[in-house]
Amino acid sequence: CKLWGGRFVGDTDPIMEKFNASIAYDKRMWDADIRGSKAYAKALEKAKLVTAEEKDYILHGMDQIHDEWAKGVFEVKPGDEDIHTANERRLKELIGEPAGKLHTGRSRNDQVVTDMRLWLRDAISILKGNALQLITTMVERAAVEIDVLFPGYTHMQRAQPIRWSHWILSHAVALSRDVEQLQEINRRVNVLPLGSGAIAGTPFNIDREMLRQELAFDDISINSMDATGQRDFIAEFLFWASLCLTHLSKMAEDLMLYSTKEFSFLTLSDAYSTGSSLMPQKKNADSLELIRSKAGRVFGRCAGFLMTLKGLPSTYNKDLQEDKEAMFDCFDTVHAVLQVTTGVVSTLKINPSVMEAALSPDMLATDLAYYLVRKGVPFRDAHGISGKAVFLAESKSIPLNQLTVEDLRTASPLFSSDVSAVWDYSSSVEQYSAPGGTAKSSVAAQVEHMRTWLKKQ
Ligand code: ARG
Repeated sequence: CKLWGGRFVGDTDPIMEKFNASIAYDKRMWDADIRGSKAYAKALEKAKLVTAEEKDYILHGMDQIHDEWAKGVFEVKPGDEDIHTANERRLKELIGEPAGKLHTGRSRNDQVVTDMRLWLRDAISILKGNALQLITTMVERAAVEIDVLFPGYTHMQRAQPIRWSHWILSHAVALSRDVEQLQEINRRVNVLPLGSGAIAGTPFNIDREMLRQELAFDDISINSMDATGQRDFIAEFLFWASLCLTHLSKMAEDLMLYSTKEFSFLTLSDAYSTGSSLMPQKKNADSLELIRSKAGRVFGRCAGFLMTLKGLPSTYNKDLQEDKEAMFDCFDTVHAVLQVTTGVVSTLKINPSVMEAALSPDMLATDLAYYLVRKGVPFRDAHGISGKAVFLAESKSIPLNQLTVEDLRTASPLFSSDVSAVWDYSSSVEQYSAPGGTAKSSVAAQVEHMRTWLKKQ
């Protein structure tokens, strides 16, 4: 019989029954549901709505149900609409009458959102651990390979020489913001809705502060309609997942390019590559392609759920049941992506000589302009003069650094033999020593900054 069967006549259409049920996926919250119910039983006792003995029956029954789920022997029955129904049905089977008192003053509306907040809180802590592991891997790799130079690109065109570690850290820093944002979201997730009832609150002496402590929430929800009817904390999580994977998609895209034969800057470990069923020579970067693709998947979840929320009237509507698959799927996806990315980053091999050989003198055209700036030429003019030198070298089909001082003097009389010092990639990057730049001292400072940040997490 149904939790809500009293006013109904006849059976639900089996198709409707299946359509309405969420047990297939919300059973993942079995532990959160039990934790919530146990805390609620204690609050019921305090409010004298159940006796100490009845409370003990409930707690004991819930522990048994916990065991059944943990051992994988809990039997979901056909009428079990969702995890809340299933656990309560089983409690009744195990302890009889006192089970009927557990839901006093509670609604599945405050119960489900309590379960979700408990579940997501744990999920967030797992994802934070995964992200920190990835960032640590990246920062330590950056520390070890700090001396490797390679071309930096803008618009995918050769721009300026940079340190390989500078590239790694650029992605680690973005991920550190993801971790900070996750913590920020957790502040809003970790709020107790239980005691809000269906919409109006609780008419009994339910001690919500006690519930808060029992379930280790930081705060108590302020308004029962808001607490039961809003899913902004889920939307925030889905957006977070989308942004985090967008960061990783960008990194994966670069690595994919760098791992092509044409670039050969790095080689992916076989452990994260796959082959072709037709072409024996192929080694495909499937790990990176999947990392890139998952950003689209979670963004779809985010956009889809926002569509569900848009236009909903106040408080709980069954549309909100759609929140769970989006939340689970985004968790599973980000959880996997972060671990695979850690594997990829920690096992790939770079080819420093190829990376450095890929640098070319035209990438020092900016430094040629800076040479003139140091001789007092306004940057706009220096830019134009250096551009002329680039044009001259191109029309002579020679590299920029092969222009003679006489050639250069046709662009500006300020060039003299000391211009040869410009054509050095190492001294080029060393100029960028202000905080955030690609000089060794600055990149080392970034590594230290990130290590300190990691220690604080
Ligand atoms: N399975 C439901 C959900 O996930 C639980 C809440 C049902 N509440 C209700 N008033 N029908 O949203």
